[in-house]
This record gives sequence, structure tokens and C-alpha cells, in this order.
Amino acid sequence: MPAKELDQIVNLCKRRGFVFPSAEIYGGFRSSYDYGPLGSLMLRNVKDAWVRTMVQLRDDVVLIDAAILGPPQIFEASGHLANFSDPLVDCTVCKRRFREDHLEDRDCPQSKKGCEFTESRGFNLMFKTVAGPVEGSGAEVYLRPETAQGMFVNFGNVLQTSRKRPPFGIAQVGKSFRNEITPGNFIFRTREFEQMEMEFFVPPADSAQWYSYWCTERLEWYVNLGIPRDMLRLRPHDADELSHYSAGTSDVEFLFPWGWGELEGIAQRTNYDLTQHSTHSGNKLDFFDQATNERYVPYVIEPAAGANRTMAAFMLAAYDEDIINDEPRTVLRLHPRLAPYKVAVLPLSKKETLTPLAKKIYADLSNRYMVDYDETQAIGRRYRRQDEIGTPLCVTVDFDSLEDNAVTIRERDTTQQARVAIADLMGELTLRLGF
Ligand code: GAP
Repeated sequence: MPAKELDQIVNLCKRRGFVFPSAEIYGGFRSSYDYGPLGSLMLRNVKDAWVRTMVQLRDDVVLIDAAILGPPQIFEASGHLANFSDPLVDCTVCKRRFREDHLEDRDCPQSKKGCEFTESRGFNLMFKTVAGPVEGSGAEVYLRPETAQGMFVNFGNVLQTSRKRPPFGIAQVGKSFRNEITPGNFIFRTREFEQMEMEFFVPPADSAQWYSYWCTERLEWYVNLGIPRDMLRLRPHDADELSHYSAGTSDVEFLFPWGWGELEGIAQRTNYDLTQHSTHSGNKLDFFDQATNERYVPYVIEPAAGANRTMAAFMLAAYDEDIINDEPRTVLRLHPRLAPYKVAVLPLSKKETLTPLAKKIYADLSNRYMVDYDETQAIGRRYRRQDEIGTPLCVTVDFDSLEDNAVTIRERDTTQQARVAIADLMGELTLRLGF
């Protein structure tokens, strides 16, 4: 399948209320984005789909929600203060700054000629701020650059309260912040973003086996939610790409319009983080296995995904244009779990006679699903509008409905229609949506 143009998705996102440039009325703020009525629903669906697979459907993973602000001690121990930096170069011609490893050649991307780059130097990506009314180093805090540290510092708390034992995982979904040198490619790289991460604690001897297990599982997650396999690949990192904590990482990559890009990294973090936090905090973060009488610091396998760029990938993979009844249409063939609305209720006309029945059906369905209600314009145009935002099913209420107590279900992908008794509607929708 050919990669879609990024512009098609950016335009659709703006036009239909998925994603807006942040602070647009002040000229925009390139490093972050706002999610509109449809985008906020879809982003939540991406995160919910992740929690469903990684927590709800497993008995060996629990969920936490840790603080975004953290004291310097956490990041001193984790190594982020010393090591979490990207190579920064300045162009002395256009006076802009770039990430050295993102310069394809040595030509300045802005001036294209006469480029003069400085030597690269490490630029720490963490955002620092001040907590409370006290100025000075004692009050310095950091916005977390990954959700992961919340899982490590709570390892002891979770072990005690959840009664889990290795192999088990702690999962978290939430915001992270990085002062990226070059944010860009829409929501692919921003300074504020959401991660979906899980730290899976295992006996050291089993870590290779669990690493390979999670690489396979995570790739399949994207396929099961509708991304064609040939738009995905698993790429092991070269030694010089590895993060300071990693003994081996593979990325799940998606074929973006500009080439392969990372959606998720699956890393072998060994016992690095638990050991570091034990040493720095003076609190033991280990596990005593009563079966073997052995005390050990678990090894960690970490699947770490980004919700925002994953949402972009789902949209790019789902975007399609076809011809229906000699007319071109744009259709987002999103998996029903990801679609902002699962169903749209459309009374055939705005006539008052249809409204009470249509509203009753809308209210009933809304108890179970996120449902849209639209009574403006011709029915054909309303179908197109729902196709463009990925709504899998439309329910049309017409004048016959008042007589035969039935409605028409229309499918987004095939445009096929079927007449269904209102009494059977919920069951029929459940069958077609798959949940
Ligand atoms: N705890 C490990 C970790 O944070 P990472 O590869 O740096 O690993 C995990 O980040 C995921 O977070 C990435 O695969 C990506 O999807 C997402 N991510 C990282 N930086 C991002 C950024 N600046 N903008 C959007 N998403 C980002």
C-alpha cells in the first residue's frame, strides 16, 4: 500500500476537528498540538485500546498513574540528568539550531547553501521548572521525559499492594515532555506528548525469552488494529543508537510518508533502573522468591509506545479515496475500536415527525457507544461526512420507521445497507462492530 501524503491527513485533521495547531490564534506553537472534538475521542480510543490489550486482557499487568513533576533525585538516579541529550549544532548562517543526527547531509536545511555548522554538543532534553515559592536549587523540579520512572520508583509499593510476582508488569499512560531540538512532521515529534509504557519485571535468566515475546506481541497489536503488515517492521537498534539504560532495543516502525519512523521501542533495560534507584534512595528494590529462596533484582523488558504518533499512523493507514456512485469520496477505514464515533444516527429529514424516534434511538445507543447525531443536509452528504471521519456504521431513521419499527444500517466500508428491526438494533450493531 503506498504511503499517503502527510498533507492529506493534516488537512483532514484541521477541517474535521481532529487536531489543531496549538495556540493558533496567536500564530501557532509548532512544538505542540491541540486535539479537537474528534481527535480527543480518537486519541483516547488509542490509549484505551492499549490499556485493554496490555492490562485488561492479562492477569500479569497492573496500571498506575504517577506524577508528572519529579525531584532531581529521580533523574539523577535514572541517568537522565547526565545522559538524556541530543547532539545540537548551530548554523552560523541562518542562526537556527538543528539535531546533528537529523541532518541528512551537511547542507543547512534552511539556507541550503553557505552552511557553517558549529561542533555538536550535548543538549539535555528535560524541561526544568521551579516548584513552590522558594527560589533556588532546592525547589528545582523536572517534567518527566518518560513515564517509565514512575513505574520504577513505585516498584516496591506495587509489589506489596498488588501481590504480583515476576514475571509481571506495571503499565502507565500519560504525558511526557522533551525539549526536542527539532519538533516536526505534525504530531510525530512534539515537545509535549503521551506515552503508553509498560515495565515487565522478570527473573534475569528469562529476560531474552520475554524480550522476544514482547517484540512479537507489540507488532501484532498494530496489525490487529488495522495497520497492514507491509507498513510495519521491527528494526533492532545498532549499538551506537542504544539509550544509556538499554542492553538491546527493537523499534516497531511504520512507513510514514517521509519514510520509516518509530512508533514504539521494546527495550531490555536489565536491572539498571531498579539498581540505580536502590543505590540512590537507600531503599531495596528487589524480589525474594520464596520458591527458590533466592533474592534478586528483576530484569525489565519495556515496550514503550507513543500515543500521538501512533494515532497519526492509524489515520495514515486508514485514509482512502474511492468512487461511490460515480462520485469520489474520502473514507477513513479505521478499526471500530479507534473510530471517534462508532455509530451515527441520521433521521432522513429534519421533519419533526422523525425527531422523537431518532432521538430515542440516539439516547439508547449512547448508553453503550459514542454516537453522533446529524440531521442537517441531504442524507448522501451526511454519509460522506461520516465516512470521512471513520464512523463504521450509520443508522438511518425514515418515514417507514414510524410504521414498521425498523431502521437502515449502512456500512462505511462497503456502503451496503440493511433493514433491521429497532428491537434488534443493539444486537446487530454489536455483531457488526465486534464489541
Ligand atoms: N521509556 C522509554 C522511552 O521513553 P523512547 O523511545 O524515547 O523510549 C517511547 O520513547 C515512545 O514515545 C517513542 O517510540 C515514541 O512513540 C514516543 N515519543 C518519544 N519522543 C516523542 C516526541 N518528541 N513526540 C512524540 N512522541 C514521542
